[in-house]
Amino acid sequence: MKYTRLGKHGPKISVIGLGLWQFGQKAWGKLGNTPKEIFHAAIRHGITLYDTAEIYGNGLSEKLLGEALNAEGVPREEIIVATKLAGFNASSGERALRSLRASLRRLGTNYIDLYQIHWPPPRWCKLCDVLRSLEEAIEKGLIRYIGLSNFSVREVEEVRTCLRKYDIVSVQFQYSLAYRAPEKGLVPYLKREGIGALAWSPLAKGALTGESKGRNFARLTDPVYKRASRDTELLKTLKEIASNHNSTPAQIALAWIIAKGVIPIPGARKISHVISNAKAADVALSDDEIKRLDDASAKYLGTYGGFSPLGRNIPCVIQKLMLRIIGI
Ligand SMILES: NC(=O)c1ccc[n+]([C@@H]2O[C@H](COP(=O)([O-])OP(=O)(O)OC[C@H]3O[C@@H](n4cnc5c(N)ncnc54)[C@H](OP(=O)(O)O)[C@@H]3O)[C@@H](O)[C@H]2O)c1
Repeated sequence: MKYTRLGKHGPKISVIGLGLWQFGQKAWGKLGNTPKEIFHAAIRHGITLYDTAEIYGNGLSEKLLGEALNAEGVPREEIIVATKLAGFNASSGERALRSLRASLRRLGTNYIDLYQIHWPPPRWCKLCDVLRSLEEAIEKGLIRYIGLSNFSVREVEEVRTCLRKYDIVSVQFQYSLAYRAPEKGLVPYLKREGIGALAWSPLAKGALTGESKGRNFARLTDPVYKRASRDTELLKTLKEIASNHNSTPAQIALAWIIAKGVIPIPGARKISHVISNAKAADVALSDDEIKRLDDASAKYLGTYGGFSPLGRNIPCVIQKLMLRIIGI
């Protein structure tokens, strides 16, 4: 494993994290190994960044990460726990702090390293009030860093004008060989500003592994998965480059993201995937290989994916109800 800093001012992290949406088990289905086995494999292979959210499995993902963390007995300071405040709970400072305390309880920890706002709250919410409360939470030692997720450049700037004492350290966004729109604005902005970049769905929900995958809610709702799994040209390029490195298409897809200066946080339901993904940190792509992957995926620089900004017009109660009904 290799390590880096998250942005200019964030914590030291492994160059590959582990996404724990899968621990929620609603959108992805049952795990192939126990959460403790998956966490143990990740720790053993040097992964230090763990990404969860209060909404994954309605808190189950956080709870299982907390149990695994405490059972494993790894010194707390060696692990970066990243969780997310749902956009519908970022409606006021008071509401956000209630969510934060609930996450701390489920995670069984005294502090969260990276507390991210999962998506921008509705336009009329008191976003600045939320951010000031998070700054107070830093001063009380409840969180170490503030991060964002699914915010556009304009929305990131809006947030930064609210903050008085601290800056955000990272933004998380959908990014992979099958969805490259962030390269047109967000990625260069974050680089310029020294803010860390985290890629969600770095394997396009498994489409870039070249393996045939079962249907589940996570895949059914992602247009990026659908088009990437049919992209024979891109998969052929991934397989050819993988054979040069004695590796797998998934490892090449992750190595390409790292080469772009972004940290992938692939999700996994079984330990073999965690181990294989951790080893992607050792794959060094040549300039020529990066160019071949860039060319085979250039069509995805301008396609649809990511989070719709229209969500900011949906009231919190409706958002909450929708997610309860769908169950992610
Ligand atoms: N901020 C946000 O809004 C947001 C949104 C989505 C995700 N996320 C975060 O990002 C993480 C990753 O995204 P994601 O889970 O949506 O997509 P992903 O990482 O692109 O795909 C994960 C799936 O790919 C398959 N996979 C993983 N490694 C593999 C390997 N080595 N070989 C073969 N198949 C492999 C597995 O599918 P099977 O288990 O079916 O085999 C796994 O569940 C999530 O866990 C979550 O923490 C954040």
